[in-house]
Amino acid sequence: MEHGALGAEIAEHDRRYHGEDDPIISDAEYDALRQRYDALETHFPDLKTAASQSAKVGAKRALRFAKIIHRVPILSLGNCFSDADAADFVERVRRFLNLEAAPAFTAEPKIDGLSCSLRYEGGVLVKAATRGDGAEGEDVTANVKTIAEIPHQLTGSAVPDVCEVRGEIYLGHADFVALNAEQERAGGKIFANPRNAAAGSLRQLDSSITAKRPLRFFAYAWGEIKNRGEMSAMPATTQWGMVQAFQRFGFRINPRMALCHSLEEMLTVYRAIEADRANLGYDIDGVVYKVNDLALQARLGFVSRAPRWASAHKFPAEKATTILEAIEIQVGRTGAHTPVAKLRPVNVGGVMVSNATLHNAEFITDKDIRIGDTVSVHRAGDVIPRVDAPILDKRPASAIPFVFPLECLCDLKTALVKEETAAGDEGKVRRCSGEFACPYQQVEHLKHFVSRRAFDIDGLGDKQIEFFFNDPDLSVKTPADIFTLKARDEAEPIKKLKNKEGFGELSVKNLFDAIETRRSIALERFLFGLGIRHVGETTAKVLARAYGSWAIFETVSQKVA
Ligand code: IVH
Repeated sequence: MEHGALGAEIAEHDRRYHGEDDPIISDAEYDALRQRYDALETHFPDLKTAASQSAKVGAKRALRFAKIIHRVPILSLGNCFSDADAADFVERVRRFLNLEAAPAFTAEPKIDGLSCSLRYEGGVLVKAATRGDGAEGEDVTANVKTIAEIPHQLTGSAVPDVCEVRGEIYLGHADFVALNAEQERAGGKIFANPRNAAAGSLRQLDSSITAKRPLRFFAYAWGEIKNRGEMSAMPATTQWGMVQAFQRFGFRINPRMALCHSLEEMLTVYRAIEADRANLGYDIDGVVYKVNDLALQARLGFVSRAPRWASAHKFPAEKATTILEAIEIQVGRTGAHTPVAKLRPVNVGGVMVSNATLHNAEFITDKDIRIGDTVSVHRAGDVIPRVDAPILDKRPASAIPFVFPLECLCDLKTALVKEETAAGDEGKVRRCSGEFACPYQQVEHLKHFVSRRAFDIDGLGDKQIEFFFNDPDLSVKTPADIFTLKARDEAEPIKKLKNKEGFGELSVKNLFDAIETRRSIALERFLFGLGIRHVGETTAKVLARAYGSWAIFETVSQKVA
């Protein structure tokens, strides 16, 4: 009974994950289901049939792409969830091989993207396929050819006649954030995480869309490799050597890959990669250990869906579930009203999270997220934590739908407007049209003005700006007020900044000095600091280069006006 129900549940999660790029449970929760399922089959071997979930890898492919049968199946990886599991894995390998000591292993980050198999014939890329269910995947050749990091032609010597290189297609954190911002602006789908965004970008029927997405690729495995003649086609006899060969052929390989000679070294690499997780710039969910010697790999072989010679040592979950206690609205510099989830604090992959983004009003209604719901929360690297979805079977009767405000939170009560997207549709972002009349936008403008990539004023961060903005004595309402602070401070002894809480003689002097050093800055920083919509750092640079100086910029813009 339990086995059947669990199997159906796993199949549904596989379908959502692989077929729709829209998982509703965390990887850790999925792993737990799978572990329970495998344990049942270990205790009751009769349950294991050809229809069993343990015989499958991932879900059947989505229907819109042509199918490609993998000549060498793409397998999955067994997991370790603790140091003790990793020790068991190494010991199992040693015992199976009947060795005195454990063999060498490679250790490398487990990239949280989607695996792809690239077939080169005569050095030329002829086919690219997704993993699919491991036996057959989707033909994504046209899309893959738009990915700059995937060579169309292999380079170097001794390239096998047939060479299937496998690895992970992924999207970096910064590109993910930029893509979602662009999606939001254009009224498109907001992706829940970089993996979904990468999958959504790859599985486009129109490859010109894929071409606009900065997908990346790491090579770490292979499928069929052969030469037409007698000569051996394998470029190396070790896992390490194979990956180095892929680099010579023109692929990026992961710089964190290491060769380990003991369990201790493997765990040291695991911990070093885990400690650096937030700085890698892309999502990873563990470290993969692989027996280095290919002859030993061959002796070890496979068991059901995974090789005996490899295992993924997973990081503690970066997803968690908690209660959504309230939804607050944050007003941004451009007047955008963004819903922020106020959560019962929860530990997500080692960091306490109590706020998370809910993207926009549509996201809340589409996912039917209600206050009081238990929600899944995701945090990856340095990306802002986000709410993924409500857990419907934990919904209390008292849960209440959120009513998005129609007016700005400010005293002006300006009506919120949804602007047209570039495509002419109604956008998803609700914005206050009050601009500089809206105090929320004023203060956000000031924060942007002093920020690191604009005026970069030391000692003037978000907290100080809010204080200066709200303090009636200091009354910093526009950027110009920052530059009159010192003169005003000197003129009015009773309102002196050094008497305010958190300030002293020295900190005030340092702040005034820092402000003075920014009286003249690079034009591009100035233009960026103005916070004009659609003028980001790149556009500001282009404008600065085109105009050369503020004087010219001002004259020209006055003429145009
Ligand atoms: S090796 C037979 N190495 O993890 C072993 N897989 O859970 C083949 N993955 O389907 C896989 N980074 O999509 C390997 N450095 C890495 C990986 C990696 C990510 C993915 C891959 C695979 C899945 C298995």
